[in-house]
Amino acid sequence: MPLDVTSDESWERAIPEAISHLGGLDIVVNNAGVEITSLLADLDAEDARRMLEVNVLGTALGIKHAFRAMRPGGPAGQGGAIVNVASVAATIAFPGIAVYSATKSAVDRLTRVAAMEAGKLGYGVRVNTVYPGLVPTEMGNQLAQDMADVGLFPSAQEAVAAVIGLTPAGRLGEVADMADAVVFLASDGARFITGAGLPIDGGMGM
Ligand SMILES: NC(=O)c1ccc[n+]([C@@H]2O[C@H](COP(=O)([O-])OP(=O)(O)OC[C@H]3O[C@@H](n4cnc5c(N)ncnc54)[C@H](O)[C@@H]3O)[C@@H](O)[C@H]2O)c1
Repeated sequence: MPLDVTSDESWERAIPEAISHLGGLDIVVNNAGVEITSLLADLDAEDARRMLEVNVLGTALGIKHAFRAMRPGGPAGQGGAIVNVASVAATIAFPGIAVYSATKSAVDRLTRVAAMEAGKLGYGVRVNTVYPGLVPTEMGNQLAQDMADVGLFPSAQEAVAAVIGLTPAGRLGEVADMADAVVFLASDGARFITGAGLPIDGGMGM
């Protein structure tokens, strides 16, 4: 169902729908994100606000509503797992994505505090984050093009080649690479893992 992650009301509609449709709720993945490339010297305040809203506020509201639903006494009430999607951009300094990187560092910190609150308050909810490397989705392809457009690389292809050059595994990530790691963190196989950040970047961020 449609969900605007930046809207409390939207979450309040979506969570009960999900619980009744699925018969419960034990996994929430905060995956929605926005990346608007810009050199800091050319930063547009509205673009920065948009990234802060979706990436930081959206993730925070997702955690809020997941906690309320999954903690004891909540409408799902069985505990569970939250996985927040940060980025390798939270672990390195890549030009052209300063505010995006800052929002993903914020996702990282939100994750740690959320894991601490959930543990201390007995919610039975684990909270972890992942740092994907470059994946050629709509966002990833646009980012490569933007790198050329702002003059950091001669072409999108050369921007991609530079990323691959920084990646020990020698290739870009695939959506399935990301999904498998998220599924692991959401599964009982990760039952003693909380407050952790897992790179899924072929070694780019090490
Ligand atoms: N593609 C990459 O190279 C890459 C690398 C690292 C991290 N990430 C992160 O992975 C996640 C998924 O990225 P992607 O590559 O699939 O990007 P994408 O642009 O292809 O998809 C992003 C999705 O977020 C949704 N979205 C945006 N604002 C929203 C809102 N207010 N409410 C609900 N949904 C909203 C969009 O509709 C879109 O479906 C993002 O958090 C992104 O920052 C992507």
